Amino acid sequence: PPGSAVFSGIQPTGMPHLGNYLGALRQWVKIQDEAPQDARLIFSIVDLHAITAPPRDGHGKGEWGAGGGGAAGTLRRYKREALAVLMAVGLSEERCTLFWQSDVPAHSELMWILSCQASTGMLSRMTQWKDKSAKEGAPNQRLGLFSYPVLQAADVLVHGATHVPVGEDQSQHLEFARYTARAFNNAYPLSPSSSPPVLREPTTILSPHKRIMSLTTPTSKMSKSDPQGAKSRISVISSPEHIRKSIRSALTDMQSDRISYDPETRPGVSNLLDIFNSFDKEARTPEVLAEEIEDIRTLKHETAEAVVQGLAGVREKYLDIMERENRKYVDRVAAEGAEKARKSADETMRKVREAVGL
Ligand code: ADP
Ligand code: NA
Repeated sequence: PPGSAVFSGIQPTGMPHLGNYLGALRQWVKIQDEAPQDARLIFSIVDLHAITAPPRDGHGKGEWGAGGGGAAGTLRRYKREALAVLMAVGLSEERCTLFWQSDVPAHSELMWILSCQASTGMLSRMTQWKDKSAKEGAPNQRLGLFSYPVLQAADVLVHGATHVPVGEDQSQHLEFARYTARAFNNAYPLSPSSSPPVLREPTTILSPHKRIMSLTTPTSKMSKSDPQGAKSRISVISSPEHIRKSIRSALTDMQSDRISYDPETRPGVSNLLDIFNSFDKEARTPEVLAEEIEDIRTLKHETAEAVVQGLAGVREKYLDIMERENRKYVDRVAAEGAEKARKSADETMRKVREAVGL
């Protein structure tokens, strides 16, 4: 529809992995390729969200050279890497707005204004809050983690997004964003009452892909923050050797050497079938693949080869971006993206301030 806008984000908390790729990034590219020319496509590296997790030290000097040491250097490096990955998976820096969230202060400003409407009861029922805060223990629970969904709502609403592609784990946050937009619009009605409300309620586009699970503990999702580290995941720029090795040592089960698809009772085997299916050129379902494949060894071998092929282009393009006077190029894309994003956000903020009387 005319005036449509897509917004989504990814945290710079480490090199994006297969789960991020299949659950999010690949779908963003598909949207880019299918969206009408006048649709705005906005993808953000959400660094303000990333600092809700404790700072991580010690990776300041990576392939990008000096990012500065300590936790700040680590975050700077992750931000550049994530932006390079967005381009490497096929997002065009001309067609899309690619930017670092903290370059656009309107995200934080709208977050505060929305906080004044946001329901703390709803926030305390968010699954992600319950999971993450339980890990940290009551005395250490922090406000930023609690209000994470308010910032996420601001991200989406400040750009007037009509469509937000996310994984299933984020759909509760999107529901919260719609609820909060409605609360704001009700608190600040416009006259005449026939004029469209200030904040637009976005539609969720759920990723058609299943959650990709950790290779070492296939009952929890593949995540950048998995304590099992590099063995548990495949990054989008993993070398073919690393892909083969980590899939070969992926945890399966002793039930049978035969293959069957049942995520409940055979999470490891089923996860590999899901991954294989995601990259299969013949688009065979996991059930069909389970029929056709003889044993676990073959499943691992063929899955690894499908992933190696599927990610080859991404790795190549990433290495290419890295070579091109790397830091400056990525920084320039981020600066241009920030300028476009500020313009888009300011349009909403003018109306918000006017409606509230600020
Ligand atoms: P992470 O949880 O690894 O830190 P993010 O929070 O940055 O990742 O999520 C970025 C996007 O990737 C979100 O849309 C999320 O739904 C999706 N995503 C993250 N992990 C997975 C996974 N294991 N499988 C499928 N999608 C995922
Ligand atoms: Na997440």
